[in-house]
Amino acid sequence: MFAKKSLTKLMDETTESQNGLKRTLSATNLIALGVGAIIGTGIFVLTGTAAANHAGPALAISFIISGLGCAFAGLCYAEFASMIPIAGSAYTYSYATLGEFIAWIIGWDLILEYLFGAATVAVGWSGYIVSFLADCKIKIPENLCHAPLEHTPAGWHFTGAIMNFPAIFIIALMTTLLVIGIKESAKFNNIIVFIKVVVILLFIAFGVSYILPSNWTPFIPENTGTFGVYGLSGIFAGAGVIFFAYIGFDAVSTAAQEARNPQKDMPKGILVSLIVCTILYILVALVLTGIVNYKELNVPAPIALAIDRSGNALNWLRPLIKIGAIAGLSSVVLVMLMGQPRIFFSMAKDGLLPQSFSKVHPKFKTPYITTILTGGVAALVAGSLPIGILGELVSIGTLLAFVIVCVGIIVLRRKNPDIKRPFKTPLVPVVPVLGALICFAQMYSLPSDTWWRLIIWMAIGFVIYFTYSIKRSNLR
Ligand code: ALA
Repeated sequence: MFAKKSLTKLMDETTESQNGLKRTLSATNLIALGVGAIIGTGIFVLTGTAAANHAGPALAISFIISGLGCAFAGLCYAEFASMIPIAGSAYTYSYATLGEFIAWIIGWDLILEYLFGAATVAVGWSGYIVSFLADCKIKIPENLCHAPLEHTPAGWHFTGAIMNFPAIFIIALMTTLLVIGIKESAKFNNIIVFIKVVVILLFIAFGVSYILPSNWTPFIPENTGTFGVYGLSGIFAGAGVIFFAYIGFDAVSTAAQEARNPQKDMPKGILVSLIVCTILYILVALVLTGIVNYKELNVPAPIALAIDRSGNALNWLRPLIKIGAIAGLSSVVLVMLMGQPRIFFSMAKDGLLPQSFSKVHPKFKTPYITTILTGGVAALVAGSLPIGILGELVSIGTLLAFVIVCVGIIVLRRKNPDIKRPFKTPLVPVVPVLGALICFAQMYSLPSDTWWRLIIWMAIGFVIYFTYSIKRSNLR
């Protein structure tokens, strides 16, 4: 159970002839993939709630704290990704450092980040597209664009809706693109990333002159007496909520076997995309809370509200924001749906999942079986479950992966100090320890229901491991 895969064996598997994936992605493609996966629901939807309910104008500080946790974890990912550039990401890193069982746990856990992540963002996409179509006088019937299941404090019940069809549609579209080719997918992603970054820059550049400094005073509203509602604890609770906005930079590492020069470009892709998005997020948070008073920001489209408040002069920006959000969310779905099959692919290569999962399409050179399987399950999840439940599960699953990757760096530095590390995490063990602590603190701030769902998900994973994978593992 604690057998580890040797690094020499891992490196043998990275050659193109061994695995069939095509090396076509440049450093710019990788940075764009990172930005493509990061900017989405977090900034376009969650910022409003985080400011209104938790941090107030100090939301910018929440972004700095959450970004710091991600930066520390990102530095650890960068070391692993340059040292072991294999499609499995955190799953492969733990196979080499912490053994097969932990690797299985992380592989199983990453399904929460990527497959459920894609489903969550697809539900967000559905909300935006339905509202955009309504602006164009095209009305989608309610029962065709909502989940049939809903969860309230009283429990689960049916909503009367059939399925969330727009969410299913975007997943089907992105899955098709991913089957056709990684290069085609990366090209599409580059265009979308350009659109969404331009839209965000326009918001910052034009919004800045509508800031009322009075909205920033007090910058840290006084705590109401309840933990997490304003004050210092509110800043931390806000960080926990907007952590979702940062998820995705690690998805770059799943494309390691399709990168032209993974050792140099993986760290660039991970770290540059993270830095770019952190800067954009802090600026958006400042402009947003400067234009609209934080108390009024508890809305599903906070940036659109800020445009409305800026008077008629910015009316032209309104449809662009919606288009930016729709484009932005589709690339998040794309990159998440790209990450998952590549992790299944690595797990199947190791024998922990059926061999057919590691098949590469003879013409398109993509892991098509796992891509279609991921798309199918994600479409089902997105079509039938509500967004709130999905989002928290994605955050806790991702945070767990980050914690394990940070711990993995410390373990590997001790056990294999001499292995070639094209990129080295600075200040080990301070950086990985802080990364693990900040990420664990954010997990701790999530509701107990979410913890229970994580435990149940893991229990299902244990059953599969002990009844199937343990017997078929190639290492054994
Ligand atoms: N970071 C991604 C988003 O905000 C998951 O949608």
